[in-house]
Amino acid sequence: MLTAEENETLTRTGPDTLMGRVMRSYWQPALLAREVQEPGGPPVRVKILGEEFIAFRDTEGQAGLIDPRCPHRGADLFFGRNEKGGLRCAYHGWQFATSGACIDIPTSPPDIGARIKPKAAIRSLPVAERGDIIWAWMGATAPEPFPQLEFTTVPAANRYVSKKLQQCNWAQAVEGGLDTAHFSYLHAGIRDDERISMLAAGPKPNPLATGQNEPPQIASFRWMIEDSMPRFSVFDHDAGFLICAARKTDDDSQYWRCTQFLMPNHSLAPGSWPGGLQQGQTWVPIDDHHCWIYCFAWYPDRPMADDERRRLSRGFGIFAEIDQGFVPVRRRENLYLLDRHKQKTSAFTGIDGISEQDAAIADSQGYIHDRTRELLGQTDLGVVKFRRTVLAGADAVKAGHAPRGARSPAAYAVHSGDLITAAGEELAGVLPTRFPHLEAAPHHR
Ligand code: FES
Ligand SMILES: [Fe+2]
Repeated sequence: MLTAEENETLTRTGPDTLMGRVMRSYWQPALLAREVQEPGGPPVRVKILGEEFIAFRDTEGQAGLIDPRCPHRGADLFFGRNEKGGLRCAYHGWQFATSGACIDIPTSPPDIGARIKPKAAIRSLPVAERGDIIWAWMGATAPEPFPQLEFTTVPAANRYVSKKLQQCNWAQAVEGGLDTAHFSYLHAGIRDDERISMLAAGPKPNPLATGQNEPPQIASFRWMIEDSMPRFSVFDHDAGFLICAARKTDDDSQYWRCTQFLMPNHSLAPGSWPGGLQQGQTWVPIDDHHCWIYCFAWYPDRPMADDERRRLSRGFGIFAEIDQGFVPVRRRENLYLLDRHKQKTSAFTGIDGISEQDAAIADSQGYIHDRTRELLGQTDLGVVKFRRTVLAGADAVKAGHAPRGARSPAAYAVHSGDLITAAGEELAGVLPTRFPHLEAAPHHR
């Protein structure tokens, strides 16, 4: 539970807010690189942290994010023409480079134009193109070094990156990503009126889904359904924290799902085993009632097959089924195509898709979840830890300091994933082997 004031601090991200300043202390995804793929192609509107910009790629291939208002008479540069050198306003032809510099004023004689040009420069954001995303620096200070998120450093052939609209405040959507306890219900399937793993709920049950030969990659889905009271351990590090949730297995060993939260708005999802697919999400406020969730999946050591990339692009796991504008097909306006018959017979929610189930329930908390009215329990530890960590960031910027991780780019080169500890084995002892990137021993909290 938070006070009303804490809830305001956590959820408001406009330019003059504390959390807005926290967000602006880090590089933020502004749009997918493929949204402005073609040099000299059409500009697109971008809204991020309550501020509006025009994104375009100039004829040389450089991406830029500039203020949408032409300084001449305020026309919207979205209507501009993308020409050699930059975007030309459709009203009287003033032209702007990706740097925001006004480079041509055809309405004035050259001597007068030369005097006006410096005054006509418009705001432009520093950009970095990494991991198939165009990132923006929105802070008032010079950009910090780019965080070494692994999906941005592997070859493009190893990854798939997309985004999806979420129709609620960013913070409750992040909380959903850190709340592993909901897997036992929200993502459960139904058969013969019993909750089962969704993996076994499909039309063709996996023959390995029961019995002695069941590998942990399959059995883990069942363990998540069977044990709805996971127990948590949290390890702080320089960019955020690793939160591990233990569930009972079929013997005395423990099944752990370890999730990374990285300041201020990234999470790396559990559900991967060594050599397997890594997945993560970044929640970027559009305004305080909507966010873009950037979704990335990658193999650290090998290319992704085309059919796997295709499967993710159609909606799978954290990837939603989306339309051309990255809006989920199942969304607020159509009640996520909730099917009450399905809810009785095959899926606990009656909604298709893990991502859509997450989205529906986060939206259902309201556009901004009222955290003054909650009854939190021990399985909500990840949620509580997230709030404490980002609110500490707000305290830091208030005191004039950089929030955690903002100046520690190497601390972002981490993994999440699953592991099993034998009976009596300490998690902290196993972590350095399973997650060798945790160079210094993490601090147990
Ligand atoms: S309003 Fe843009 S050139 Fe006149
Ligand atoms: Fe979920």
